[in-house]
Amino acid sequence: MALNVTRRSETIEYAIRDLVVPAQKLEAKGKKIIKLNIGDPNRFDFDTPDFIKNAYAHALKNRRNYYEDSQGLKELREALVQREKKFNRVKLNADKIIITNGVSEALLFLFGALVEQGDNILIPGPSYPPYTSFVKYFGGNPIEYRCIESEGWQPDIDYLEKKITKRTKAIVIINPNNPTGAVYSKKTLQQIVDVAAAYNLPIISDEIYDQMNYKKHVSPCSLSKDAKFIQLNGISKVYLAPGWRIGYMALSNNFEELFDACIRQARIRLCANTPGQYAYLAALKGPTTHIKKTKRKLRKRRDYAHKRLNEIEGLSTAKPEGTFYIFPKIEHPKYARNDKKFVLDLLHKKYVLFVNGSGFGKKFGTGHFRGVFLPKVEILGEAFDRVEEFLKATK
Ligand SMILES: Cc1ncc(COP(=O)(O)O)c(C=O)c1O
Repeated sequence: MALNVTRRSETIEYAIRDLVVPAQKLEAKGKKIIKLNIGDPNRFDFDTPDFIKNAYAHALKNRRNYYEDSQGLKELREALVQREKKFNRVKLNADKIIITNGVSEALLFLFGALVEQGDNILIPGPSYPPYTSFVKYFGGNPIEYRCIESEGWQPDIDYLEKKITKRTKAIVIINPNNPTGAVYSKKTLQQIVDVAAAYNLPIISDEIYDQMNYKKHVSPCSLSKDAKFIQLNGISKVYLAPGWRIGYMALSNNFEELFDACIRQARIRLCANTPGQYAYLAALKGPTTHIKKTKRKLRKRRDYAHKRLNEIEGLSTAKPEGTFYIFPKIEHPKYARNDKKFVLDLLHKKYVLFVNGSGFGKKFGTGHFRGVFLPKVEILGEAFDRVEEFLKATK
């Protein structure tokens, strides 16, 4: 019997994982693929620091296997307040933080609470795909604001402001940015905060890569005393524990209804991963040497990827200032408007996997692809040699 599924569910797309299917088919035939598609440092030579793993194990052994409070462990929320004060000069209130199973779950609560049918959410163009999918899932419209490639993918503030309508509910900032690796200047962030304040709109600030920043991180939540914001962050990237599924959403004080709408959703999923919360607490209180080490490694790989990709005829790329992503432009005439074909042809001919730029937004992502520079330079070198050979052989 055919079962009708909702139209809502048909709107869900996730290019990053959708491309894994053809790659798996090749692997089943015995082909070895260089995967530069998924932003998971732990698939490469990065691992969760031992002291954080030990805290997780300790929580398990000490019977912290119960359902934690739906809002999350109080000490963890308090530690987040301290961390944000110290690193990002952001004033959080522990009573307004909800610990979630990753930023991903926070997006579910947030858009579930904010978006009515036909509402608009302003997102960067290009953008990390779940922003688009979650907004659509709740019947809203993700509206991309242009980020300017020739200016290192900085947001175009005039464009952003022109996109604000009566139906706009929030402005999303992802800084450092996935997929472009851009780090927004303080001036740009201040301008977005000012626009948001002028239209009385909240800022949703995704800072999951805050300490994977090769410049200095500035949180937009620190730039205005009376701005409304929702800050998102978690353990996945900076603390190298993506599979543990722990993150948080922190709401500024002037958000009683939104907080209530989110915490009620948090209650129906009972709680976030309990031992993971103890591990996150240890991560926040522990040494930060691993962060410096990770950045040092990534910076070297970033420099290599940026130089090497720019040397390939038919490609050009802006320099990422944060994250571990690079977002080159395809200038080769055969693929300049067909990035999905580029990614699929490269996969089938050279066994290197990227993600098509259009998967991050048709308007501003098309004609690009996203790669990660997480592997060692030797592996990156091999992958880029194959890309070069592939483009040379393409008429
Ligand atoms: C910008 C951005 N936000 C959120 C996430 C997911 O975060 P989490 O693992 O906390 O769900 C990612 C993962 O790649 C990301 O790039």
